[in-house]
Amino acid sequence: MCGIVAYIGKKQAYPILIKGLQRLEYRGYDSAGIALSNGHLNIYKKKGKVADLEAFVKDKDVHGHVGIGHTRWATHGKPDDLNAHPHTGSNGRIVLIHNGIIENYAVIKSALAKLGHTFSSETDTEVLAHLIEEVQRRENLPVEEAVRQALTQAHGAYAIVVMDREDPGKLVAARKSSPLLLGIGKDEFLVASDATPIVEYTKKVVYLNDEEIATITLDGQMTVKTLRNEETTPTIHQIELEIEQIEKGGYAHFMLKEIFEQPTTVAECMRGRMNADEGWMRLGGMSEYKMRMLNADRFIILGCGTSWHAGMIAEYLFEELARLPVEVEYASEFRYRHPVVRERDVVLAISQSGETADTFAALELAKEAGALTYGIVNVVGSSIARLTHSGSYIHVGPEIGVASTKAFTGQVTMLTMMALVLGYERGYLPKSQYQKLVQELAQIPSKIDQLLNSCQEKVAYIAGEFKDASNALYLGRGYNFPVALEGALKLKEISYIHAEGYPAAEMKHGPIALIDENMPVFVIATNLSAYDKIVSNIQEVKARKGVVIALVTEGDEVIKRIADHTIEIPATEEPFTPLLSVIPLQLLAYHIALLRGCNVDQPRNLAKSVTVE
Ligand code: G6P
Repeated sequence: MCGIVAYIGKKQAYPILIKGLQRLEYRGYDSAGIALSNGHLNIYKKKGKVADLEAFVKDKDVHGHVGIGHTRWATHGKPDDLNAHPHTGSNGRIVLIHNGIIENYAVIKSALAKLGHTFSSETDTEVLAHLIEEVQRRENLPVEEAVRQALTQAHGAYAIVVMDREDPGKLVAARKSSPLLLGIGKDEFLVASDATPIVEYTKKVVYLNDEEIATITLDGQMTVKTLRNEETTPTIHQIELEIEQIEKGGYAHFMLKEIFEQPTTVAECMRGRMNADEGWMRLGGMSEYKMRMLNADRFIILGCGTSWHAGMIAEYLFEELARLPVEVEYASEFRYRHPVVRERDVVLAISQSGETADTFAALELAKEAGALTYGIVNVVGSSIARLTHSGSYIHVGPEIGVASTKAFTGQVTMLTMMALVLGYERGYLPKSQYQKLVQELAQIPSKIDQLLNSCQEKVAYIAGEFKDASNALYLGRGYNFPVALEGALKLKEISYIHAEGYPAAEMKHGPIALIDENMPVFVIATNLSAYDKIVSNIQEVKARKGVVIALVTEGDEVIKRIADHTIEIPATEEPFTPLLSVIPLQLLAYHIALLRGCNVDQPRNLAKSVTVE
């Protein structure tokens, strides 16, 4: 969602803020703004991209050693200059940037209006700036104490950084349910909503905990207090992120880079966790809770977006390989429908960012109900990773493209490993079959590599053929039904073509009515167990003049004769086919979006990390 970056130290803040905002732009990008303190306070904000802000400030005074910056993804109020952050109170003394939503802002706003406050934007954030100003004014408090007292009245989620015009050598940062970390450099501090703006300057960070308020000063002091006014000792962590990981490395877009990284990232995900030669696997996160997992009554899998699709694949994997009952839930639905969660349930939360608000809240609920909670997360140290009892990081490195690609294959790889371990330990997978599957899984990175090389040209050609389609249908069965959902999601996210994923056989119950010669139908036909059935589904589409683009196992001759286009996928064990079949679909969405002139890495209205409900 929105991105936060702030700087206080010996250097000029502006270049650091702008670079930080560019790095954060993947999180939200409808407007951006900065505030700089230089004896007096300069605030600049602009609708549009960070580049628009940069152009706007070109001839302005951007000096100062203290500053805050924000990229916005609108929640309250349209994207425009006025609603962009930073926001100030009535007299301009308090300046604030904010991620999250202040849920009771309307009540606070009307109380403040009665006291004479007038508001210039439609945002909840501005209300918080006025509230801090009001608290500060009443008792003439230092800014950090005014922030603390004001926050005790605010409900909802926030990560904020506050400046006080009258106390210019100080920044105050606070968080609740929205990530915020402090970078500790030499003679300087940075604050950011994720590590990407920080890593260039320091690897030492403090992850603020919920309801903590940090005060950092130009003379190098840092104090952290809780909302209850207790001082705490922050733990300093070392981040492993490297600067190259958050740059494009010669690729035109982050999405393309991330698609092509998958042979490596899938291998990274397995690294140290399996020995293909000896045919075994070990997942550290599972060891402490193994008995509870092996004897679980059921697994409940929570996620949103692409992570939910990975969870759906896990349902097939866990049921087939480990004979464990699984329910896959949209976190946003699960948390509000009084779900039945028992102590013998294991709840898996899947999240690339580890910050998705709905997944976090659903997980909290499951934990309170006594279930064992386990995270499949990419971002190390993220909120979901810290909330769960245990978990396994997918280790695919930072994913910057808004459309998730390598995180999906990382999640599916991790879930596949879990299913194999559980299946073997529960006695449903005989040792010989287990070893055979482990060995085959180890081949997947090189098969992805082979596939990326072999399908590129064909995919680019197919993209050219269908770039002007208005609708598209994606069909798959079994393990590849969630891949159909994921393929359709990729296309609609970045090319804005309406696309639907469907179980191939369900097509007859509705979508078949849409099929005509203008409708591309992408069929994932790599499951050998349902081969004849999927061939029949393709025939049904062809009989209605639909155009079929089929993903087939290499060497397939039957579907090649019926389909209009085919893309060959290396052969593998059926439970592993999603790890391959999704690759051409990612690439296809990329090429179509490119041909349509869409912004691939920053599609309209979307955000990478959805930290609001
Ligand atoms: C957003 C992103 C998706 C992602 C989803 C869940 O919608 O654009 O790519 O799949 O959030 O995010 P998470 O970080 O929890 O996996």
